[in-house]
Amino acid sequence: MEIEPAVKYLQNKLDTKNIDIAIILGSGLSFIEDNMDNLKCIKTVEIPNYPASTVTGHKGTISTGFYNGKKLMILAGRVHYYEGYSYEEVVFPIDLLSEIGVKKLLLTNAAGGINKDYEPCSIVVLENCIAPFSPLFKDQIENPYSSEMNNLISEAGGRKNIKIHKGCYAYMSGPSFETKAEIEYLRILGGDVVGMSTVPETVRAVKNGLEVSAVSRVSNMGTGITGKSLSHIEVLETAKYSQTNFINLLKKFIEII
Ligand code: HPA
Repeated sequence: MEIEPAVKYLQNKLDTKNIDIAIILGSGLSFIEDNMDNLKCIKTVEIPNYPASTVTGHKGTISTGFYNGKKLMILAGRVHYYEGYSYEEVVFPIDLLSEIGVKKLLLTNAAGGINKDYEPCSIVVLENCIAPFSPLFKDQIENPYSSEMNNLISEAGGRKNIKIHKGCYAYMSGPSFETKAEIEYLRILGGDVVGMSTVPETVRAVKNGLEVSAVSRVSNMGTGITGKSLSHIEVLETAKYSQTNFINLLKKFIEII
């Protein structure tokens, strides 16, 4: 898929030079676009060859602007493999970020809790990831997440009095939520949270030479842990409910990067 027209489009419409950090926002997570200076915002459907999101709760915008003197690019919404896109389409936004010269990337997502110490609204900085059932990943990487950026996220949490867990993200291609047995299996493999995003982007971003961190917000406990059945609506409602902590964490993190 040709990326050059998309690169040009972004360079024309947004402030793409010397971005301090790009942030991808997951399901139902909105951020500080409202608090950004010199805000410029486009809809991703306008961008040539950009894959369109079909999932409720994904806004489909890219913004640039300043927060606390740092130049940010915020991608609100992403596409997933389970929507029918190929791996190359799922990572198209990552290639776009690399092409415009972004060096640091923070990925966020809403995830299911596998670790029984977590509860809905827990915040988990990813130290590693696994994709046990996935044939998707062609790029070999060793250390997915930047310990330097992760330390700053933990420090931001400490300064804001927000508890930050550290964990491993287990990728499932979806679209269905897991069975109880799958959640138990993923726990045995070392997964702390489970989700259907983030790993494709991580793999491509690291391959492209970006420094990457990722934060999950637990929207629900994995299937079978609480006995309740899961729905995407529940994921969105928890995301909305626990927004404040998450936004405060990201704001503090941006201040100190
Ligand atoms: N499983 C997979 N993906 C998810 C979940 C889950 O329980 N919650 C949010 N995304």
